[in-house]
Parts: sequence; structure tokens; C-alpha cells
Amino acid sequence: MTRRDSILREMGFAPLWRLRQRAAQNTQDVQGAMSPADTVSADSAPLPAVAQAPADARAQRIAAMGWDELQATVSACRDCRLCEQRKQAVLGVGDLEADWLFVGEGPGAEEDARGEPFVGQAGKLLDAMLAAIDLERGRKVYIGNVVKCRPPGNRTPEAAETAACFPYLQRQIELLRPKLIVALGKPAAETLLDVEVKVGAARGRLFDYRGIPLVVTYHPAYLLRNLTDKAKAWEDLCFARRTMKGLSDVGG
Ligand code: URA
Repeated sequence: MTRRDSILREMGFAPLWRLRQRAAQNTQDVQGAMSPADTVSADSAPLPAVAQAPADARAQRIAAMGWDELQATVSACRDCRLCEQRKQAVLGVGDLEADWLFVGEGPGAEEDARGEPFVGQAGKLLDAMLAAIDLERGRKVYIGNVVKCRPPGNRTPEAAETAACFPYLQRQIELLRPKLIVALGKPAAETLLDVEVKVGAARGRLFDYRGIPLVVTYHPAYLLRNLTDKAKAWEDLCFARRTMKGLSDVGG
């Protein structure tokens, strides 16, 4: 256990959930209970977009990229079928020295048109959520998405699309090394944690993405449809803020 882990435990932020190997089966939710309704069977799982050896080589190339090359590669990416209908790929926006990383699902129509994440209705709510905890887009905050190209009709990205795009997000996180990651909604949480996540069960807990604390809350688009859960999102943001403060207090 690292010093930071021990301090976080002392502060009552346990349990600290560990990232599973991506090779592990995605069949267990964060409470360890199997949920047949949520379990993706091997039969129904889409085939990977790219075969394993070339995928590994590609991931290694991406893992060595700086921001400029990453931006250029994402802009030109044709490694899954989301490229077919996009206007442009949307890498992310914000402070490259960010303490906070917010991760959504994928660009919508306005983001696709403007090339910036969270600029539509959900984005307005996200900006308000940031303001509620004294944060501002671009000031110690970076905003990105699991997939960089708009899924047609704003559908949830498919597993193959998420898998093809994940090396980009991994590289973004590696370059940013934020102090805290906030996963906005189930697809972001599941992609980053590599476990099946129920947001309702995961919120209020501290997870770990490769040594970076991670909290889960509702996606702003969900909150626009479920106004009563806004209070819970507020609690989650306060939890995130407290966690960040704890990290700063221990010199993280
Ligand atoms: N929803 C997301 O998940 N990301 C965006 O960029 C916009 C809407």
C-alpha cells in the first residue's frame, strides 16, 4: 500500500477499488454481485475492431505520443466505424496542467460540429456543476470523452468502438496525470475501471485508475432527464471536492 493509499484510508475513503486487468472478464459489478440483466455474454459481445497483435502495436505507438501527435492521430483516426459519420473527432479540451479530469461518453451533435466536448445542453449543466464547486472549464480542469467521434444518434458507444478509442484516453491521462478523475456516467466508469458499474452503487466511493483516485457520478445528460438525481450529483461533487482537498493537504 502506498503512503497516499494509507492516508486516504485513514481519512475514511476506503475501500479503494483497484483497476482490474483489461483482460479480465467484465462481468462483475462493483459490489461483486452478478447481474444477469447487465452481463454481456460472449455471444452478444461485438468482435474487436482490430486484431490483438496489431492492436497492441497501435496502443504502444499511441502510448508514446505527445499532445500534437495525439491530436493529429485522433483527427485522422479511422480505426472504428464511428469515423464514418463524424464531422470531426473531438479529443478533449482544457488545461494541460489539470488537477481535475472529467470523462464523459462521447461527442454529441454540437460537439461534433464545434470540435469541443460538452458544449451542448449537457455541457451547460456540466459547466454549472463545475461552477458549483468553484471550478471552470480550462482552469485546472480538462474534459474528455471515452470515444472521440460522435456515435450516430447519440447511441452508447459499442464495446469495439470503446476498445479502439481507449488507448487515446489512456494516453491523455498519462500526459495529464490529473490528481482526480471524475467519471461521468456508466460508460466512462466502466471503461476506466474495467468492471461493470452501477452508478447508484459506485457513487460516494473512491476508486483507483492506475494510481489516480477516481469518483463516479451521473452523466449530465442523464441528470437533465432525471432532475431528482441532481441532489445526488451535488453530493458526489462535494465528495470529489473533499477528496481533492484531502489529496492537496497530503501534498498529492
Ligand atoms: N455527452 C458526452 O458524454 N460528451 C460530450 O462531449 C457531450 C455530451
